[in-house]
Amino acid sequence: MIDIEELRKEIEKDIVAAKTVEDINSLYKKYLDKDGKISLVFRSFSGLTSEEKIKIGGVVNVLKQLVIDHIEKVSREIKDVDRKEKEKKDWIDITLPGKKPTIGHLHPLTQSINKVREIFEGLGFSIVEGPELESEWYNFDALNFPDDHPAREMQDTLFIKQSDRDKLSSKEKFLMRTHTSPVQVRHMQKNKPPIRILVPGRVFRNEATDASHEVNFYQVEGLMIDKDISVANYKSIVYEFCKAFYGKNSKIRLRPSFFPFTEPSFEVDMACTTCDGKGCSVCSQTGWLEVMGAGMVHPNVLKNSGVDPDQWQGFAFGFGWDRLAMMKYKIDDVRLFYNGDLRFLNQF
Ligand code: FA5
Repeated sequence: MIDIEELRKEIEKDIVAAKTVEDINSLYKKYLDKDGKISLVFRSFSGLTSEEKIKIGGVVNVLKQLVIDHIEKVSREIKDVDRKEKEKKDWIDITLPGKKPTIGHLHPLTQSINKVREIFEGLGFSIVEGPELESEWYNFDALNFPDDHPAREMQDTLFIKQSDRDKLSSKEKFLMRTHTSPVQVRHMQKNKPPIRILVPGRVFRNEATDASHEVNFYQVEGLMIDKDISVANYKSIVYEFCKAFYGKNSKIRLRPSFFPFTEPSFEVDMACTTCDGKGCSVCSQTGWLEVMGAGMVHPNVLKNSGVDPDQWQGFAFGFGWDRLAMMKYKIDDVRLFYNGDLRFLNQF
């Protein structure tokens, strides 16, 4: 029979020394495992009397509990240390300023057109849109362009490839619209005067790009038709618009010009917003900047749209939305709007 007193001393010594996972594993193996010392004591009970079994069994059970308690205590402590280590690693300083989320914003062209729309809506205009893929008839014929007009040439217009194109009528031939003016005709065909519309939209030209020319750019068309609309009405509307858009009393002037779809036609200049008309590099020292083409709608265009020119008359205008935004924000290259450079876009 094993000496219980010796066993107790050994256990107490081992317990004091057992501090790591390895230590408590060996402690378990040495005393509690199937062949462990405590298990062997219980197995050697066969030759003992009941009283001896109770007496020795009681003492050995206390020793067994001592080992179990110590193993549990050490493993709890180890887990505690692990948790604290992890917490230390995952620790964040909640007093540090947070990372600012990047919030997008509207493109400067969208911002400017929203402002333009708002101003014209305030003047009683409705917003209308038309297709970017257009027929030759709406883009040219209906607008009174003669067959030999240079704008119809491949050099200026992006035509759609179609088989047997020569055999098609101009209503069946397609191109990417070169201006927003075809929407005048489309709208008048479906709506009776009086008409007061604004048509913002994307247009396409076969251009060599430079600081003021893009292949893809935007225009805004205006059309006002009623019984006795005159150039005076046009002038006051454009004046009101420029004042509201540029935020100052801008001076405008009309110069005679030519468009096949208006008669008379004129170009509109605005006193340069950069130098207040004194002359600077933006306005080539002239004090004036060309902002749009305009004129009284040609009777042929009214006829092609199903509107009687003896009863109705009005004006139309078209301006480069990109150039308008360039003047407002003092941007010197139209291509900046389209190259997606965030250093530029984030300034708006
Ligand atoms: C027209 O396109 C006419 N449809 C305007 C019009 C409408 C006149 C109604 C009369 C009545 P124009 O080709 O001049 O006109 O173009 C109008 C404006 O578009 C120009 O003043 C300019 O601001 C802009 N623009 C023209 N070409 C380009 C281009 N390649 N890149 C950027 N803007 C351009």
